[in-house]
Amino acid sequence: MLDSPTMTAIKLWGSVFSGFGALGLGMSLLLGGLLSACESKRAEPAAGTATTSASPSPSTPEPEPKPGPAPAAPGPVKIGLIAPFSGPFAGAGKQIEGGVRAWLDQHGGKVAGREIELLVKDVTGVAPDVAKSLAQGLIVRDKVDFLAGFVLTPNALAVAPLATEAKKPMVIMNAATSVITTKSPYVVRVSFTLPQVSAPLASWAAKNGIKSVYTLVSDYAPGADAEGQFKKTFEAAGGKIVDSLRVPVQNPDFAPYIQRIKDKKPQAVFIFVPAGAQGTAFLKAFQERGLSKQGIRVLATGDVTEDQELDAMGDAALGVVTTHHYSAAHDSPENTAFKQAFSKVTGGKVRANFMAVGGYDGMAAIAQVIEKLGGQIDGDRAMEAFKGLQLQSPRGPIRIDPETRDVIQTVYVRKVEQRPDGFYNVEFDHFDEQKDPGK
Ligand code: PHB
Repeated sequence: MLDSPTMTAIKLWGSVFSGFGALGLGMSLLLGGLLSACESKRAEPAAGTATTSASPSPSTPEPEPKPGPAPAAPGPVKIGLIAPFSGPFAGAGKQIEGGVRAWLDQHGGKVAGREIELLVKDVTGVAPDVAKSLAQGLIVRDKVDFLAGFVLTPNALAVAPLATEAKKPMVIMNAATSVITTKSPYVVRVSFTLPQVSAPLASWAAKNGIKSVYTLVSDYAPGADAEGQFKKTFEAAGGKIVDSLRVPVQNPDFAPYIQRIKDKKPQAVFIFVPAGAQGTAFLKAFQERGLSKQGIRVLATGDVTEDQELDAMGDAALGVVTTHHYSAAHDSPENTAFKQAFSKVTGGKVRANFMAVGGYDGMAAIAQVIEKLGGQIDGDRAMEAFKGLQLQSPRGPIRIDPETRDVIQTVYVRKVEQRPDGFYNVEFDHFDEQKDPGK
């Protein structure tokens, strides 16, 4: 009986709790007590079993089996979605949730005959401790089958060890620092990495006559990844990085940084800031201070000109060259269907961006795994099923590298253009089969 599912679960949660300081220790002890109670109960023979012979004698007719209660219908598959729904990154959380719900709406909310239940949790911003306690609650109290979401790298990094302890698949729908997938064998990423999109941009710039670049990135792990990869690829191709700046992750004032760039007169600036209003603030300040007129070009990861914000940027974004995995302007039947579904579940007020695609593809990947497992979710078997999985995404074909559990995909080179119905990242070149070069 020691290996029964109940006992295994009790032991597992004991080890999960032991990672949580004083409270965790208390819970571990409580569970330890439960464990020994179960063990001592199992030491006594259960009534009615010890005297039953293995094969009843032919003279005693076997009693008719009484109809027992009907087996309980399996409950829903539970997915805990952790993302920011308040604070400066609230838009990102809503995009991801919209993407997940768009997929569910298109597919009737059920997979392999089981309902899908979403448990949505607001992590409020860059808040690793909040992320950890939300994940703990989802694992221990709500008993979710999958953890998902994760817009911001610091939050994903904080939760990865809990995924390992609880053996819960953790599906990254955005967070894009290379190292995240190495932090737990239960992490799988369907979004992108900053090095994956920064390397093609550096190659494109070097091939297109740009020789000197000033870099400006957010001062946290994804920024360091973007800066590091751009520099590596650009310098290897003969380019020169004239200087590098890092700005605060939340609410930076770009004016003084832009002045410093102006003074150095580089041919171009390379920028990464998290998707949202920061890209608009940067590009407007860049335009107002006359850098575009001075001929300094803007090269950026697609986070900066993301689709939801693009119309707010307007003219300030015109001509900006970016690399990324998704554009609303991507021309495919999958993208058209995705945009319609997103619009339906979100009321048509905002344009879907790459985060929504992360949510949509993450849900599609989870659904494939549930199907493969015939609706019986087990963390280890689920991770095997994620490896090598392929999807026809709204961005184009994607697959999960079985070695790294990271996404392999096409990275597009785009330029912001105005069309009759608004501003778009128009794809004009592409780099196929891009792996994360960060590992
Ligand atoms: C991240 O924190 O990993 C992150 C956040 C927003 C982005 C990209 C990466 O646009």
